[in-house]
Amino acid sequence: MLNYSGESRVNIAASVEFIHNATLLHDDVLDESKARHGVATANKIWGNKSSILVGDLLLTLAFRWLIECGNLSVLSILSKASNLLVKGEIKQMTTRFDPNTIRKNYFNIIGEKTASLFSACSEAASVVSGATSDETERLRNFGFNFGMAFQIIDDVLDYTANQGTLGKQLGKDFFEGKVTLPSIIAYEKGSPSEQKFWEKSFSSARHNFDQALQYINHHNAIHVSMEEAKHYINMAQSNIDTFSDSLYKTALIDFLNASIERQG
Ligand code: IPE
Ligand code: MG
Ligand code: MG
Repeated sequence: MLNYSGESRVNIAASVEFIHNATLLHDDVLDESKARHGVATANKIWGNKSSILVGDLLLTLAFRWLIECGNLSVLSILSKASNLLVKGEIKQMTTRFDPNTIRKNYFNIIGEKTASLFSACSEAASVVSGATSDETERLRNFGFNFGMAFQIIDDVLDYTANQGTLGKQLGKDFFEGKVTLPSIIAYEKGSPSEQKFWEKSFSSARHNFDQALQYINHHNAIHVSMEEAKHYINMAQSNIDTFSDSLYKTALIDFLNASIERQG
């Protein structure tokens, strides 16, 4: 879309892919996940030690390739994003449930753990292409808004997907006591006894998934979460409005629409 065809695009794309895969190798250890994309996770097959080491290996390779580009701005964008991403995972692990900050914390965490990499990805592409600072800001925001929508949809699918198409364990977030948007909405709209149910679910091993689904459906929390995701998708689309039409811009818009439709 930015008419760039230099060699660095290969290094940057491969680096982003490796940073992403490294964080998933580590994430599956943290979440004790047994399946991803319909196949056993690396930690399930080879154990946590291998997953952590290979994740580290991918990260070191990613940064070697970025250094080869000789572009300090690109290196800075992707190293900041990697740092934020890990901070987001740490916050998710350490933040205790608090009704007053539940929403703010959720959006902050997904902004860091997911949207930061989407954002850095488009910002790096913009910088390496020599785009204007206005274009770079638009693309940074495009990535951020896309990433926010992507994670909200991921969190919705954790409650709604069909086990076969999801390719990972259904209800994993709930069973882990992870606070995500559908449960936040059900919590906020819930009666005092429902709120007690959620508070217990977020802090102990008493996990009745069917009950959670019933409360979520009763309060229309899936629909409301998807509306929130669509709001971010619309913002992302408007962030790239000003770029001239091209195959590549259409592909980006297709990505946005596909993320709303995805079932796994
Ligand atoms: C994904 O987080 C990993 C990162 C963003 C680093 P989640 O734990 O929410 O995602 P899945 O469900 O394992 O893919
Ligand atoms: Mg996970
Ligand atoms: Mg996780």
